Amino acid sequence: MKRAIGRRTCENMPLRLEAKARMDKNALETVEKAVEVLRRGGLVALPTETVYGLAADAQNPKAIAKVFEAKGRPLHHPLIVHLGSADELGQWAKNIPKTAWKLAEQFWPGPLTLLLQRAPRVLAAVTGGQETVALRVPSHPLALAVLQAFQSGVVAPSANTFGRLSPTLAQHVREDLKEKVDWVVDGGPCHIGIESTIVDLSQEVPSIVRPGGLSPEVLAKVLGFVPQRSTHTPRISGSLPAHYAPKTQLVLAKPEALVHCATALCAEGKRVAVLHPHKTALPENAQWVCIPQELSALAQQLYALLHRLDKEGFDVLLTSLPEADDIGAALRDRLTRAANAHLATVPPNND
Ligand code: TXA
Ligand code: MG
Repeated sequence: MKRAIGRRTCENMPLRLEAKARMDKNALETVEKAVEVLRRGGLVALPTETVYGLAADAQNPKAIAKVFEAKGRPLHHPLIVHLGSADELGQWAKNIPKTAWKLAEQFWPGPLTLLLQRAPRVLAAVTGGQETVALRVPSHPLALAVLQAFQSGVVAPSANTFGRLSPTLAQHVREDLKEKVDWVVDGGPCHIGIESTIVDLSQEVPSIVRPGGLSPEVLAKVLGFVPQRSTHTPRISGSLPAHYAPKTQLVLAKPEALVHCATALCAEGKRVAVLHPHKTALPENAQWVCIPQELSALAQQLYALLHRLDKEGFDVLLTSLPEADDIGAALRDRLTRAANAHLATVPPNND
């Protein structure tokens, strides 16, 4: 018995080491392949800590055109340029305020995008003809490895069809964009699960253009004040009232009205999923779907959950908005826009 354990241990040790070496080699090959595809103007789905991005060479107009085509995105909607390090900031932006360097130092790599005046090298196709450029250094190790090996900027909008749910798994990208992507880098589930916070530093007072994975309260630690939502509205697809939507209709109700609302929808013959942290008594045609109460866990799981529920044949997904503190503001933003996407298509209630 002793001998058997000893043998198992001895035999398994080198195996485990080999497996690790194999994994590293695989990751290395994946990175090399991704860089090769980017260099020849192809599209790579890249995992980031927020959502998967559809990456292309930011200096190649043909590759950029492919990104817009694959997503079905209007050409004047600008793209975020992803960099391998904050040291590259000066190559892509000009008149960079001190605040930008401070934010970059504190939060990059991470879920923060900075809106700055664009440097001359930034193509008009990237900025939609605007004078600002959005820049970010993502923290996912595979994304960082690709960006550092590529040694230049990479545009990467979320890797989904325009207006649809962002992908937080490689499988979401494959199912949505299929052969429109040349190479999918599978980096597992995105650990933040909601897009980056976009901070506009091109105006005198920094403001939030899109709430996201980094909360205003955390940004305040560097800024010295809690940044407000931007009143200046740049052209930005994520700021359209209807965006980030599942295919299934999403309806929002106050927490105290959820059961009543589910009952009314079931009475119309609808099959309803009620997304809520706590189980409640529901009508027969409604099903409780447990969601985390904790905001960062909810953000991490939200898109994946909506992707899954889209396949389960519900007529309506019913939920409430979380509190607005921390990244709750970003979750409220995404859920509201997702609900709006269906308002135009909801048949009038004839009862
Ligand atoms: O977390 C993220 O930011 C992800 C990952 C992949 O990095 N990317 C992402 O990209 O969400 P996208 O394109 O789906 O959303 C970026 C938003 C868009 O709404 C776009 O209009 C806006 O950023 N944007 C990009 N450049 C801009 C600019 N120069 N001025 C104003 N808005 C800009
Ligand atoms: Mg997007």
